Amino acid sequence: MEIIIAISLLLLISAAYAAHSAAPWVPTWNKDKQRIYKLLDLQSNDKFIELGCGTARLSKYLSKNTEANINGIELSLLHFFFAKSKTIFTNGKKFKVHYGNLFKINYFDYNAVYMFLMPEAYEKISEKLHKELTAGSKVVSYVWPLPNWEPEKIDKEVGRADIYLYIKK
Ligand SMILES: C[S@@+](CC[C@H](N)C(=O)[O-])C[C@H]1O[C@@H](n2cnc3c(N)ncnc32)[C@H](O)[C@@H]1O
Repeated sequence: MEIIIAISLLLLISAAYAAHSAAPWVPTWNKDKQRIYKLLDLQSNDKFIELGCGTARLSKYLSKNTEANINGIELSLLHFFFAKSKTIFTNGKKFKVHYGNLFKINYFDYNAVYMFLMPEAYEKISEKLHKELTAGSKVVSYVWPLPNWEPEKIDKEVGRADIYLYIKK
């Protein structure tokens, strides 16, 4: 019994810590997955990362529908385990979920990024992405714009969240 309580507490604390770090878990709307897929337009040689991938619903969708190298990073243990389980049967697709803090990894290696976080987190990550992404990299942000980046396109639909596409200059 004690072990179950200890594990539950650990999962709760880790989810609360992640919520405080960049955003609580609120999934991207299923209806918006295709809009994001179109904006990202991932090719087989692209290396994509979803920042705070939650249960990896979007990353899983992208891995099924593209040949790109798909990655997710997640700080909440509970969500990480869910997401990780989705990478088991990937039918040979390049799909990985990493445990970690999105503010602490480096992005030199990636050329496509998606995020759905709180506006304060966009503020915090904006400069880092500017420094570390190579020219031509795509960044897609959900709901809120990325401070100090000029959008290439804003995908708007009535009654739905705005989605912003940026290309690193
Ligand atoms: C708004 S949810 C979005 C989930 C998923 N990307 C989606 O769109 O369905 C934000 C996620 O970011 C995770 N998160 C928060 N801070 C983080 C951090 N510093 N590093 C990695 N993940 C983080 C949360 O645990 C949560 O799952």
